[in-house]
Amino acid sequence: MTGASSRPRVGFLGVGWIGLNRMNALAASGHAEIAAVADPNPDMVTAALIEAPDATPMTSLEDLLAFDLDGIVVATPSALHADQAVAALEAGLAVFCQKPLGRSEAEARRVTDAARSADRLLGVDLSYRHTRGMEEVRRLIQSNALGRIFAADLTFHNAYGPDKPWFYDRKLAGGGCLMDLGTHLVDLALWTLGFPEVEEVSGRLYAKAQTAGPNDVEDYATVRMLLETGAEVILACSWKLNAGQDADISATFYGENGAARFRNINGSFYDFQAEHLVGTERRSLVEPPDLWGGRAIVEWGEQLGVGNKFDPQIEKHLRAMQVLDHVYRAHAR
Ligand SMILES: NC(=O)c1ccc[n+]([C@@H]2O[C@H](COP(=O)([O-])OP(=O)(O)OC[C@H]3O[C@@H](n4cnc5c(N)ncnc54)[C@H](O)[C@@H]3O)[C@@H](O)[C@H]2O)c1
Repeated sequence: MTGASSRPRVGFLGVGWIGLNRMNALAASGHAEIAAVADPNPDMVTAALIEAPDATPMTSLEDLLAFDLDGIVVATPSALHADQAVAALEAGLAVFCQKPLGRSEAEARRVTDAARSADRLLGVDLSYRHTRGMEEVRRLIQSNALGRIFAADLTFHNAYGPDKPWFYDRKLAGGGCLMDLGTHLVDLALWTLGFPEVEEVSGRLYAKAQTAGPNDVEDYATVRMLLETGAEVILACSWKLNAGQDADISATFYGENGAARFRNINGSFYDFQAEHLVGTERRSLVEPPDLWGGRAIVEWGEQLGVGNKFDPQIEKHLRAMQVLDHVYRAHAR
């Protein structure tokens, strides 16, 4: 950390939709200085400089690595995440990476291994963990208020698909809606339940209302996980579904003494409520508004200000990547 302030100096690699959004969140938090922005698309760099006028404009990872930085934020197309994150970690920088950390568990593990060897802070934008609603649902479950959890149902249906062509290229995106949205759901289920072992996994992938072929990019996916606790988790996610609203997002956990539900309101991608359900009664835990989108990066920025050390908690996310691998591998057979 250099300069008049002791705030960490952070560079952004990829300032498209989410990169710009997270850059603004980190800048507003005051936890870090936005020292550089790099994107091969000059229009993106120009747009980012409007928001962060003191940042140095760049085009590539190599430029960022040659600059004086404490950490970089990777928000590029998914296929690039692992190599870029590993290069930055090996250069001694902290990394905050967009999900998915890799297109497979092996790719993601290369990144966590690099962070562990370099002893550098690695964060992943598992943004839904940071909603107040999911925090409360998890707290309720971990306090045992619902008793033993025996079932969970999670959905992330989207009436739209991504608006960038690279998302529909298997090599660049690593998969379709399961890689894009299912990553969040599998991670949320395991995180909420304290990362139990997953004993069985099965799933189905569809493309344009048919069973997906091995080279298709799925637009509807279901996954079933049987956990060591005996709980069954069922999840479904989609792009371009006839959902009757923009999005249908929920995570419900059923216990022997009650249930907890997180769900979006009025089809919104941003507004969520959480409730504690007992019999026919519903008790509100959290209502909107809740500005959750930038919390993961702000937490990373804050942690980086205190020390750039590896946090092994991140390795638990590999469990979610293993589940996705299993579904994709079974489908390819
Ligand atoms: N955490 C979340 O909830 C969440 C939400 C949205 C997107 N994402 C993830 O963020 C990533 C980016 O998604 P997006 O919607 O912002 O995509 P995007 O296409 O809008 O942005 C990607 C940016 O990366 C730039 N880029 C391409 N190649 C590059 C390179 N070699 N070096 C530097 N920059 C390069 C592009 O020019 C573009 O500006 C994806 O992996 C996506 O899965 C995560």
